Amino acid sequence: MKTILGLSGSLRRRSYNSGLLRAAVELAPDGVRIETGSIRDVPLYDGDREEAEGLPQPVLRLQEQLRAADGLLLVTPEYNNGIPGVFKNAIDWMSRGDGLEIFAGKPVAITGASDGGFGTILAQAHWLPVLRTLKTRHWQEGRMRVSRAPDLFDEDGNLTDERQRRILRRFVEDFARSL
Ligand SMILES: Cc1cc2nc3c(=O)[nH]c(=O)nc-3n(C[C@H](O)[C@H](O)[C@H](O)COP(=O)(O)O)c2cc1C
Repeated sequence: MKTILGLSGSLRRRSYNSGLLRAAVELAPDGVRIETGSIRDVPLYDGDREEAEGLPQPVLRLQEQLRAADGLLLVTPEYNNGIPGVFKNAIDWMSRGDGLEIFAGKPVAITGASDGGFGTILAQAHWLPVLRTLKTRHWQEGRMRVSRAPDLFDEDGNLTDERQRRILRRFVEDFARSL
């Protein structure tokens, strides 16, 4: 059994990106399990807090999930053509303590959904220097971006578009096969 830790970078209840991650969980092939992690309770990074208290529990939990996973799937929204702060903040916390050792060499795939016509392509590109710094193994054989999300998801943020579901299934299968 291969395990992939999936993280959505949105806190929104009806988030397209969280819906995309839910669909990935459903569509994962036999022998592959996508475990969902949550960035919701990760506080804003504060070096004083880290010095006084160490890593917060939600960060330790994410690190534990990442350590146990064969790969990491980042499902990123795009804000102002870049990475949303809440998502970067969670990854920054995760890089602390033993984090760099956990990230090093870990295969990482990126996808994402946005309202606009470019489907998070710039946010995905902005993750690249971060992943390089964390010494992850960025999976580059596949690429998936979901543009014009309101046309493809229902009002609860579930991915309903059959074509995108097929593309997602293939994306997850290909990433999992590379692990
Ligand atoms: C601060 C902010 C900036 C945004 N910038 C972009 C953008 O650069 N490109 C884009 O396609 N959509 C942009 N959007 C729209 C998002 O794609 C949309 O809010 C989407 O629903 C966010 O993902 P989520 O549904 O997973 O929360 C932006 C939204 C916010 C709140």
